[in-house]
Amino acid sequence: MATQIHLSKDAAAVAEDFTRYFLEQLAGKTHFTVALSGGSTPQLLFKLWATTYRDQINWSAVHFFWGDERCVAPDHADSNYGVTRALLLDHVPIPASQVHRIHGEADPAQEAVRYAQVIRAHTQQVDGHPAFDLVLLGMGDDGHTASIFPDRLELLQDEHLTAVATHPQSGQQRISITGPIINGAQRVAFLVTGAGKHEKVSAILGREAGYQAFPAAHIQPATGELHWFLDVAAWGKP
Ligand code: 6PG
Repeated sequence: MATQIHLSKDAAAVAEDFTRYFLEQLAGKTHFTVALSGGSTPQLLFKLWATTYRDQINWSAVHFFWGDERCVAPDHADSNYGVTRALLLDHVPIPASQVHRIHGEADPAQEAVRYAQVIRAHTQQVDGHPAFDLVLLGMGDDGHTASIFPDRLELLQDEHLTAVATHPQSGQQRISITGPIINGAQRVAFLVTGAGKHEKVSAILGREAGYQAFPAAHIQPATGELHWFLDVAAWGKP
């Protein structure tokens, strides 16, 4: 399926434009599984969902997962779940049973196994594998996505749903979903903003020399939709 590029004037507009897409996809659904991205980019989105769109989202249908998590406690400043809880979960009526956090405080190898079981239990099967309805992804300025870093490209083909990864600079351990489950999703949406991402966005979307060194370049759903929601700064072209 062709990659769909959505260009917005700034980060706030990206959050609005993606929310309109999200509402369209959620309409009429009673069970919609979403793997959230971490980092800073989605924080504007979480705030928007907790305020402007709070009453327009059918929270009873939404199941939240995470595409990756730092191996820290949920109340640690680095916790992707902790940030989502503070900005979104504490402000909307999503049932706690529909929030499937990764236990960053647990033993990483054991948690990767447990989380994979949770994913299997709460997602639909498509072509014999678990398929999220929507995977939200960010992209690092090194072209990583989720916690699949350039030094671990093999995670793009990993036979397991989840893996333990290590941030190449900080050494921080992460739990991440792997390439096959991302590419097995019904919908994958990158949200990438800011001039710092332009070089990699241009290389990946333009298939420039060496682009395949960047994990985000290998995200191409087998049968699902692929969307890049970008602001002008990340897109970089007039
Ligand atoms: C994480 C993310 C990671 C993130 C990118 C972009 O846990 O850090 O899942 O993949 O999406 O690093 O991060 P920013 O949005 O902060 O630029």
